[in-house]
Amino acid sequence: MKSILITGGAGFIGSHVVRLFAKKYPHYKIFNLDKLTYAGNLENISDLESLKNYKFIKGDICDVQLLEKIFIKYKFDSIIHLAAESHVDRSITNPLEFVNTNVIGTVNLLNQFKELHQRNFNGKLFYHVSTDEVYGSLEDTGFFTEKTSYDPNSPYSASKASSDHFVRAYGETYGLAYIISNCSNNYGPNQFPEKLLPLFINNVLNNKPLPVYGDGNYTRDWLYVKDHAEAINILFHSNKIGHTYNIGGFNEWKNIDLVKELCFQMDKKLGKKDGESEALIEFVKDRPGHDLRYAIDASKINNDFGWEPSVDFKNGLGLTIDWYLANIRWLENIKSGKYTEYYNKHYNL
Ligand code: NAD
Ligand code: DAU
Repeated sequence: MKSILITGGAGFIGSHVVRLFAKKYPHYKIFNLDKLTYAGNLENISDLESLKNYKFIKGDICDVQLLEKIFIKYKFDSIIHLAAESHVDRSITNPLEFVNTNVIGTVNLLNQFKELHQRNFNGKLFYHVSTDEVYGSLEDTGFFTEKTSYDPNSPYSASKASSDHFVRAYGETYGLAYIISNCSNNYGPNQFPEKLLPLFINNVLNNKPLPVYGDGNYTRDWLYVKDHAEAINILFHSNKIGHTYNIGGFNEWKNIDLVKELCFQMDKKLGKKDGESEALIEFVKDRPGHDLRYAIDASKINNDFGWEPSVDFKNGLGLTIDWYLANIRWLENIKSGKYTEYYNKHYNL
């Protein structure tokens, strides 16, 4: 049975990746290592607990002793590494936490993987999940390709860029078998309500202001989270060792237009008057170092594997709103802090 360690599987994207792998591949043993920071939520993956090929491990990728123990015990054949501090605004307030988890945590995993396999990586894989933010910011035209130079602007993107460099360096120095993918903005179910879309969905539901940074003319490329998980699945099972892949939605939106589309769809779903939610928009102080535009050229993964987004954006946005409306309790548990009790309750501590 192939033994696969997925890190950060209680978070937003990680929970979708863990579900895809645990359900699709019953002959893989999936270990989900997660520290359960504020962003980790076991309610995201409560449906997986009864699966025989799935095990949750509560732990920190900065805890070397714990890593040594589990690497010796479970002898992971492959790692899909998603655990990270992921929110740009928090990185501006507390950069060191991002260095610890995103850089040092990643190097800890690389070291353990190298030791376990004694530098013989035949049939093994370290899959590193990264972001388009490492490339910095684009003007009004052009795209990030896999050859674009790194030019990170926030402590978050600098820490992710650093982790990408370490993965690549372990490939060059120790022969590590790795794949790195750099993805654009994900949206969908289970995203923590500090990121733009879930925060604004929550605020519309509660009639609270929608704080748009600066003039709202910042552009992001949006991809439905399950399409990202599927791209990871395809790349994980490819033989493209040592390659980097960009993953994106071919779907650019200026923040202000995106927020207006969200308001339009929410008014309809909530039976509000057209324009009622839009009236909640407030332009607020800009994010320092705010990247103007991200746009991914995903033609490499498209040419090599035929991968493309399966979910059309307006439909995906509708599905996302529907998920939050059907899971108000999930949102409320986060806001009240109750979701942090899940671990003790379900693991009888
Ligand atoms: P998230 O913040 O929702 O989840 C992160 C998870 O990692 C949480 O479950 C958290 O508990 C866990 N974690 C944090 N620190 C840890 C530590 N020290 N040890 C073990 N677990 C720890 O993040 P996300 O949005 O799901 O992003 C997942 C990965 O994908 C990150 O590496 C991020 O950089 C990357 N990414 C995210 C996006 C996006 O739009 N969200 C886009 C591209 C790439
Ligand atoms: O591009 C991939 C990245 O996308 C990931 O690597 C990050 O982990 C993920 O958080 C995301 O980063 P962003 O900074 O683009 O996402 P965020 O949801 O924080 O913001 C999206 C845009 O909306 C950005 O231009 C800032 C703006 N914004 C955000 C918030 C939270 C607002 O205008 N108001 C807000 O309240």
